[in-house]
Amino acid sequence: MSQHLLLPLVILAISPIPGAFQDSALSPTQEEPEDLDCGRPEPSARIMGGSDAQPGTWPWQVSLHQGGGHICGGSLIAPSWVLSAAHCFVTNGTLEPAAEWSVVLGVHSQDGPLEGAHVRAVAAILVPDNYSGVERGADVALLRLASPARLGPAVRPVCLPRASHRFAHGTACWATGWGDIQEDDPLPLPWVLQEVELRLLGEAACQCLYSRPGPFNLTFQLLPGMLCAGYPEGRRDTCQGDSGGPLVCKEGGRWFQAGITSFGFGCGRRNRPGVFTAVAPYEAWIREQVLGSEPGPAFPTQSPEPQSGLPEPTDENCTIALPECGKAPRPGAWPWEAQVMVPGSRPCYGALVSESWVLAPASCFPGRISSDLPPRDLDDWRVMLPSRPRAERVARLVPHENASWDDASNLALLQLRAPVNLSTAPRPVCLPHPEHYFLPGSRCRLARWGHTEPAPGAGSLLEAELLGAWWCHCLYGRQGESVPPPGEPPQALCPAYQEEEVAGRCWNYSHWSLLCREEGTWFLAGIRDLPSDCLRPRAFYPLQSHGPWISHVTRGAYLEDQLAWDWGPEGEETETQTCPPHTEHGACGLRPEPALMGVLWPWLAEVHVAGERVCTGILVAPGWVLAATHCILRLGSTTVPYIEVYLGRAGAGPLPQSHQVTSAPPLLCQTEEGSWVLVGMAVRGSRELFAAIGPEETWISQTVGEAHFLPPSGFPHWLPEGGDLCPPDMARASGSPRAALFLLLLTLLIQG
Ligand code: ARG
Repeated sequence: MSQHLLLPLVILAISPIPGAFQDSALSPTQEEPEDLDCGRPEPSARIMGGSDAQPGTWPWQVSLHQGGGHICGGSLIAPSWVLSAAHCFVTNGTLEPAAEWSVVLGVHSQDGPLEGAHVRAVAAILVPDNYSGVERGADVALLRLASPARLGPAVRPVCLPRASHRFAHGTACWATGWGDIQEDDPLPLPWVLQEVELRLLGEAACQCLYSRPGPFNLTFQLLPGMLCAGYPEGRRDTCQGDSGGPLVCKEGGRWFQAGITSFGFGCGRRNRPGVFTAVAPYEAWIREQVLGSEPGPAFPTQSPEPQSGLPEPTDENCTIALPECGKAPRPGAWPWEAQVMVPGSRPCYGALVSESWVLAPASCFPGRISSDLPPRDLDDWRVMLPSRPRAERVARLVPHENASWDDASNLALLQLRAPVNLSTAPRPVCLPHPEHYFLPGSRCRLARWGHTEPAPGAGSLLEAELLGAWWCHCLYGRQGESVPPPGEPPQALCPAYQEEEVAGRCWNYSHWSLLCREEGTWFLAGIRDLPSDCLRPRAFYPLQSHGPWISHVTRGAYLEDQLAWDWGPEGEETETQTCPPHTEHGACGLRPEPALMGVLWPWLAEVHVAGERVCTGILVAPGWVLAATHCILRLGSTTVPYIEVYLGRAGAGPLPQSHQVTSAPPLLCQTEEGSWVLVGMAVRGSRELFAAIGPEETWISQTVGEAHFLPPSGFPHWLPEGGDLCPPDMARASGSPRAALFLLLLTLLIQG
């Protein structure tokens, strides 16, 4: 049953599970005749991060089929009884009919005819009365077979622990199953049973991990009867399709089933170990259900030898795992920067995404994108990684299937012949999950990508601030298109480079990747600047939608959960938003005659901050100049710097494109009577998208007093029919961010 538990969970108060926690009332102490040998495979014998099991290693593992296919796992506990998870059989609170299910025993590979396996119909499915959903516990089920299983080398029962049985924190146990090998990545043919070694986590150790916000910023409260196994760093885990399968631990030469695969948050994520139903507390319930059936399951007593567990951490010293990817000593010194050298072409820059894989633009390897070339063609390819004495050799090139026609998928993965040891360098960059939402205002940097040309100045040191999704999407998307809400992959990521604004320049180089930082960890957020010339903001193709492809190919790229959750005001805008009409250069329906060279617009003011010309202001009254907040308050600074304003020397036209060297150009429109009206100020980083002045009228008139506003009736005069192209429409459009409209009023310092 595909239960992808990434939804907000209802945290319930702890409620005791009847009959589950007291020792068995039926036969707690006296030794019963061990008529059934359990937990011993014939001497010889996905799970995420596991490997193929050997046939016969886990003879109690069964596959539960419904509609002809594998749905869940289970374990044979007696000839006529299989233990599994309740959630496999309950949909919308209703137990599915037993007749729909069959049990496949003694199966190893589920491809083709199930050789050596035999199938049993299910006579009854039993689920505890108090089961109401996986995250509320009691996720256990018993299946009574229509006829007993044929025991043999490949089919044997596992031992069950008594209620008093203790499994120590740190014990190495094994989970098995035919489930997905990664999130949304099914086990490939020939569907061989997977096994993975997992360490038991004591309640405190597990609760410590789950108390830290994980995927979707969620925390989780474990309930009695749940048990965790896995690793704080993740990467090895059970996954969808493994549910109902056993977690077994070897004690005194026998395998005991400690847990039943129940749920998790994603698979193999950091600080999110798998959650299992603890079997021991269900001794009484199990005995009650199988009463009278001969032979029943075996509950051997725990051998008295001390359990070799680790001391269980307490709440105070609980250790969580930190990201293993995305740490850089300083911006620009990227430990994942990989330089791919192909004979006869310029070096191509990419990023190390795991021990063995480098991600790079497919366009670096023309002619190799569509054809499957023999690996020896890669013999003289080399990859240079930071701090590695020698170049690495390349084993495989896997281009993205859409690489040749979709710029957003211009990606290829290169496998190194030998994995590198990850340390401070080389170290992989973190990749975002598809649902990652890079917050507006995130700090981002550029990194070389593909055939990067040398940048004017230290291009890789350019710091950028991510713009809100609304502006970015609406600038590049279509009018009326709805804006993807946070959690859905965006179509573009727009960073605004402060340095460009300051220098008034435009980096017209398209080969860069965009790295964004969250809590000190760098994510590869976007690739390849769109060919946008000097259109601002620049847009990058988001990488997040490619996460599943990258993990599918690499089996272990470092996909990392979102680390920053301070959504700010934008996060609250949950209603669907649509894009307003686009403004274009010369919008407003009136395309004024091109201004004569040398003609000055008398209201334009040059704003200089700390001695540098930064943007254009507008003289709105004799003592007041209006300028965009973002051109006055620089990145990272909270104080207002030294500002000078020059009048009578700026600008040669009313339109943005005539201000090639300034940022935040104003948008001026002419009325029928011929007066020019300030309609909008370009949004941060943009020359095409304007924030309307209209909504700020009250604030401006209250502050300035003498500013002249057109009467509301003045607007239609210069709007074209329908007014479709005009900024006043944008002001009315839902989601038009007022934040971009915060304007600073400057008292005039110098009159020139
Ligand atoms: N509920 C899943 C299933 O039905 C099992 C998920 C286990 N997930 C995990 N991360 N351990 O197969």
